[in-house]
Amino acid sequence: MTTANDLYFVQQLVGDMQNFAYLIGSRSARQAYVVDPAWNVQGLLDRAAKDGVEIVGALVTHYHQDHVGGEIFGHRIEGVAKLLELAPMPIHVQKHEAKGVMQVTGASAKDLVAHEGGDLLELGAVRVQLIHTPGHTPGSQCFLVSERSAAGPQAGQLVAGDTLFLDSCGRVDLPGSDPRAMYESLASLRKLPDDTTLFPGHLYSPEGHDALGNQKRTNPYLNATSVEHFLELMGY
Ligand SMILES: [Fe+2]
Repeated sequence: MTTANDLYFVQQLVGDMQNFAYLIGSRSARQAYVVDPAWNVQGLLDRAAKDGVEIVGALVTHYHQDHVGGEIFGHRIEGVAKLLELAPMPIHVQKHEAKGVMQVTGASAKDLVAHEGGDLLELGAVRVQLIHTPGHTPGSQCFLVSERSAAGPQAGQLVAGDTLFLDSCGRVDLPGSDPRAMYESLASLRKLPDDTTLFPGHLYSPEGHDALGNQKRTNPYLNATSVEHFLELMGY
């Protein structure tokens, strides 16, 4: 039996690059996923343990080192490899990102679950829909979190990685980036309900989250009227 308010949701600022990691799960099932485990893996596991919640898998927004760990600018960031060492669990990635995640983290194919866009994961009454949002990287994905409730539909949470930030969006000038795909991805996120709360992959603004309805009014990148307009905004 599950009820409203089954959602367990923690936003955690980690590391030197203003990254957000998240814990998303079910209070009744006492289980959660960790989103983008990097920088302080033990700290994320400790937080869940303190809350009496078992981490049953990792969700990866995209393969960049500040989200999954690895070498960057001669600096070693801990991440998925450390998680697999401390607490082996499935690493859920978008299928187009699997190769990149393996290269950057050293994880093997058997550690990964490669997903299609639209796949669903469920814990208790909590549902996580995987949305493929290419653009920043080919296999970037966002997580739309919602809760089944007798009280009717509940407002969802959008965990958006480096696809959508508060008042900006992810870079599209990196290897594997595709600005046109980013325009389409943002256009699809714009279709989500206004009362969805946006939770980005970095703290690049004073607040850590915002109503998507507000972002539809204030975020110029979410408001591009055509692919040409978007390319112009991105400096092309
Ligand atoms: Fe990134």
